[in-house]
Amino acid sequence: MKDGQFITMGIESSCDETAIAIVADGRKVLSNIISSQIAVHKVFGGVVPEIASRHHLHNINGVYQQALDEAGITIDDVDLIGVTCGPGLVGALLIGLAHAKAVAFATGKPLVGVHHIQGHISANYVQSPELEPPFMALVVSGGHTHIVDVKGYNSFEVLGRTRDDAVGEAFDKVARVLGLGYPGGPLIDKLAKEGNPEAIEFPRVYLEKDSLDFSFSGIKTGVLNYINGQRQKGIEINNADVAASFQQAVMDVIVTKTVRAAKQRHQKRIVVAGGVGANSKLRDMLGKACEKEGIKMYVPAPILCTDNGVMIACAAYYKYQAGMESDFTLDAFPNLALDA
Ligand code: KG4
Ligand code: ZN
Repeated sequence: MKDGQFITMGIESSCDETAIAIVADGRKVLSNIISSQIAVHKVFGGVVPEIASRHHLHNINGVYQQALDEAGITIDDVDLIGVTCGPGLVGALLIGLAHAKAVAFATGKPLVGVHHIQGHISANYVQSPELEPPFMALVVSGGHTHIVDVKGYNSFEVLGRTRDDAVGEAFDKVARVLGLGYPGGPLIDKLAKEGNPEAIEFPRVYLEKDSLDFSFSGIKTGVLNYINGQRQKGIEINNADVAASFQQAVMDVIVTKTVRAAKQRHQKRIVVAGGVGANSKLRDMLGKACEKEGIKMYVPAPILCTDNGVMIACAAYYKYQAGMESDFTLDAFPNLALDA
């Protein structure tokens, strides 16, 4: 405890960010340290799992100390340790887990394993202090595309998911083909602002009538075919038009399905979570669609959209409040279902 506040440490290492945060009473950020490995993986055009693990190991002690220092506390003030236990890269997850378990064991503090997606959704509680479940959540990240009926802080029903690529993955792949760099999402977002979203008609895949699932491999192939076709014909490609048209096609489907899900379940609130939640087109289109339907949209600030320790601390806090605690057998789960 510190000044009468319940202090949670959140540890996140599921992909390429070594992140630790200190959060008071579940929602107040005291520190948020994120050591990104983007520069390291950039040369490979994507995250290399083994390299990610090594960098987590190298960075985690420094990130841990900095999180405590910036919050102006010591480990003695911490009441709870939350850590991502899955899904994610197994070697990367294990570094955060080993650190969390070691600290919990040495200090006797309680430990709570957190599902990464529950973390992303929980970032919204920090961003919007008045927000409480139930609501509809759209989770869009590099590894996931989910429409989730959030019934309570710890109660989820996944209504739709991608059957192939995650939306962030599709952004990253298209950016690679266009030679934009890594990670592709923010680069496509930026370039698209200079392009015409109606220049090229890429496929919109809605799947079966009423399905809330997604498929993005078709549009990815559509973009590749378009680029190869133009190159073969010797026609110069307008990258900005490709970026804008791709982004438009993806967001048309995402926005339509998310609003449909909210209406089906009579939800008046849609919460956006995950790295692709930073996308300006998504924010704009979903915001307008929500307004038309009398639905309120919640989106975290970009710093809380991408992977961070704050979201894990917040989720851990609500799990602990509900009496959920992990023991030292807590393991890393590369494929962990949210509603298992
Ligand atoms: O949530 P996140 O940080 O990590 C995972 O849990 O996967 O999401 C990373 C993904 C990457 O694919 C990245 O390209 C994408 O989020 N992303 C964006 C934007 N910012 C990040 N995609 C589209 N537009 C953006 N502005
Ligand atoms: Zn994530």
